[in-house]
Amino acid sequence: MIIAIDGPAAAGKGTLARRIARDLGFAYLDTGLLYRATGKRVLEAGADPEDAEAAEAEARALEPGDLERPDLRTDAVAQAASKVSAVPGVRAALLAFQRTFAGHPPEGAKGAVLDGRDIGTVVCPDADVKLFVTASDEVRAQRRFKELQESDPDVIYARVLEEMRERDARDRSRAVAPLEPAEDAILLDTSDLNADEVFAKALDIIKK
Ligand code: DC
Repeated sequence: MIIAIDGPAAAGKGTLARRIARDLGFAYLDTGLLYRATGKRVLEAGADPEDAEAAEAEARALEPGDLERPDLRTDAVAQAASKVSAVPGVRAALLAFQRTFAGHPPEGAKGAVLDGRDIGTVVCPDADVKLFVTASDEVRAQRRFKELQESDPDVIYARVLEEMRERDARDRSRAVAPLEPAEDAILLDTSDLNADEVFAKALDIIKK
């Protein structure tokens, strides 16, 4: 069984996906990490994340250890991830790994949960359940702001909102595998829900 969870930045996809995977005993793949790790490698190589050749080369050179790095959650890396993810060669380089994970989840798990932007549309168009998780821009920016504040008390809300909007706009407008709900995805607006309520709704949908 494959569960695809897509949606814009900071909509709560990761928290939900992890929880579903734990509850059902499925394997979980945060596909954003693949793009973040690629973006990070490009930055470290001193290249421009919009340089298609450099970005594709780094995507092809990704190693498992790159996904374990503790510094992939910064906004600088998120922006680089969003830029490299618009490069068709980068998406092509990362596709097989994601499909293999979904079809043959590690450690003999009975299913897989993948979260990202194009899981229901491109990576796993035949997924058994497709959720498109959203929330208003302000709610998503507030959640992200609170998270960032824990490690940086000087973080500015308006900047968080602006960066998030910029990244979503780029992810939605790219030519290849843009952020959009699959035709058969179920929309889950989490603006007025807490994490427990989102999980309960999702589980309900999956069980149906
Ligand atoms: O989910 P995230 O915020 O970690 O993703 C970082 C960036 O990676 C996001 O802005 C766009 C890209 N991404 C993508 O293009 N496709 C995916 N399936 C996952 C992420």
